[in-house]
Amino acid sequence: MAPNLAANPQRHPSLTARPEWRALNAHCVELAKVHLRDLFAKDPARGQRLAVEAAGLYLDYSKQRVDAETLRLLVALAEACNLQARIEGMFRGDIINVTEQRAVLHVALRAPATERILVDGEDVVPAVRSVLDRMAAFSERVRSGAWTGHTGKRIRNIVNIGIGGSDLGPVMAYQALRHYSQRELTLRFVSNVDGTDFVEAVADLEADETLFVVCSKTFTTLETLTNAHAARSWCLRALGNDQAVAKHFVAVSTNARAVAQFGIDPSNMFGFWDWVGGRYSMDSAIGLSTMLAIGPGHFRELLDGFHAMDVHFRSAPLAANLPVLLGLIGIWNSNFLGAETVAVLPYDQYLQRFPAYLQQLTMESNGKHVTIDGNPIDYATSPVYWGEPGTNGQHSFYQLIHQGTRLIPCDFIGFVEPLNPLQEQHDLLMANLFAQSEALAFGKTTEEVMADGIADSLVPHRVFEGNRPSHTLLAERLTPYALGTLVALYEHSVFVQGTIWNIDSFDQWGVELGKALAKRTAQELASVSEPELDHDSSTNALIRRYRALREAGR
Ligand code: F6P
Repeated sequence: MAPNLAANPQRHPSLTARPEWRALNAHCVELAKVHLRDLFAKDPARGQRLAVEAAGLYLDYSKQRVDAETLRLLVALAEACNLQARIEGMFRGDIINVTEQRAVLHVALRAPATERILVDGEDVVPAVRSVLDRMAAFSERVRSGAWTGHTGKRIRNIVNIGIGGSDLGPVMAYQALRHYSQRELTLRFVSNVDGTDFVEAVADLEADETLFVVCSKTFTTLETLTNAHAARSWCLRALGNDQAVAKHFVAVSTNARAVAQFGIDPSNMFGFWDWVGGRYSMDSAIGLSTMLAIGPGHFRELLDGFHAMDVHFRSAPLAANLPVLLGLIGIWNSNFLGAETVAVLPYDQYLQRFPAYLQQLTMESNGKHVTIDGNPIDYATSPVYWGEPGTNGQHSFYQLIHQGTRLIPCDFIGFVEPLNPLQEQHDLLMANLFAQSEALAFGKTTEEVMADGIADSLVPHRVFEGNRPSHTLLAERLTPYALGTLVALYEHSVFVQGTIWNIDSFDQWGVELGKALAKRTAQELASVSEPELDHDSSTNALIRRYRALREAGR
């Protein structure tokens, strides 16, 4: 039954009309005049005081443009928006994905066996544990060589086929935890409907040593099904027998019927549930490729990290709660200081796909233009997330962050211990991280530049305004546990922001229009006779030109 969203209009007063929002606006006018240099000068202990630690993650937010009053007002706003009650509602399994009428329970994926979490009166924890056990048993068989391919050879290559949440989490986690992976196994990830992605991924692989893990929550996604069909043809071409599918394909999905229709035996399917959003699913069965790479023990450590952050999020006071602070300071930067983007800058090469992963998590969740009740919004929602590992970005786009005309808050992420024994290089890496956040915050004044003896004409070019905000996240070592805490931190900060913005962070209707238009256009491109086109004149002309040039080239 469709939810009656209109039945409850204006359940919440408009956000911008709230006294707490107005107070923040007034406070911002004053604080905007204050430089980070002044805030640090006024409070010599600021660097230690404005920091919180939980589950092994240390968040320094002292280089944000906030003072005690900002934090007090932000927490007051969170309280006025019933954040604590909303957090409880999520953990309790309330239907908080209102437009799809679903509970949002990724926290159940990492709950200990002793916990009870009810959905429609049924405890979901035993089912979660049972899928994890099946994944572990399967992974052990593949990793040990007990599971063999159609010709009896052991599996040496795992190809994950999926897109969005069925790709970004697995590929990010595999890259992040590569240090812990079984090196004899080659992992590849195919997502794009562009055939190049598939062709290049399997170009140097032998079919009889390759296992495809087809991941799709719905098992209807065009890209994934197209690639899965390409994979089946590739496999059968080499192995020449339909029976091979059972040994070379497993599926991860909530849609057992579609999996069976594709031809994958349901006993080779690992399930999950509609209360796990795609972008919140890397710790569900969607993490099968991660588990195959790092093993069940490390996967359990990853879940433990997630859970530790869940416990902290649920129990810590708002003012000392990492995801709450990250979320609220993000709101301060976007809605009051006017920042339009956030740069995510991991100083760890293993986290190279972390910014891409965060893009879906943050922007698909909070890129919304109406409130949960369907009313138009008069404030900015999700900023644009982007980033690259340090130090590479320093030689590319950091110029703009330091001296450009836009305010770009940065999240720096680093680890104390390196995973590879090149301590000096690690010290250099971390020196760069610390130097960047310092340079952004404090800059270099005209007087300081002149004192360096710089020619007058160059002085303006050499000045760094500073006052550019950043978070620094530090953990001891990039372990599976630490990765779990980091991902859960961002998951929950997205929830905090969605709660304040009063939006549904768990639907994604914005992806539908493009999918529908592509379906229709695909038919027009495939049509043998010249199709009747009634798009706009630009789209019509592009389709005609494409068809004509394609025919000419045949
Ligand atoms: O089109 C967007 C989306 O639905 C994402 O939310 C999701 O992660 C992705 O597509 C893949 O969906 P599925 O896992 O059902 O193939």
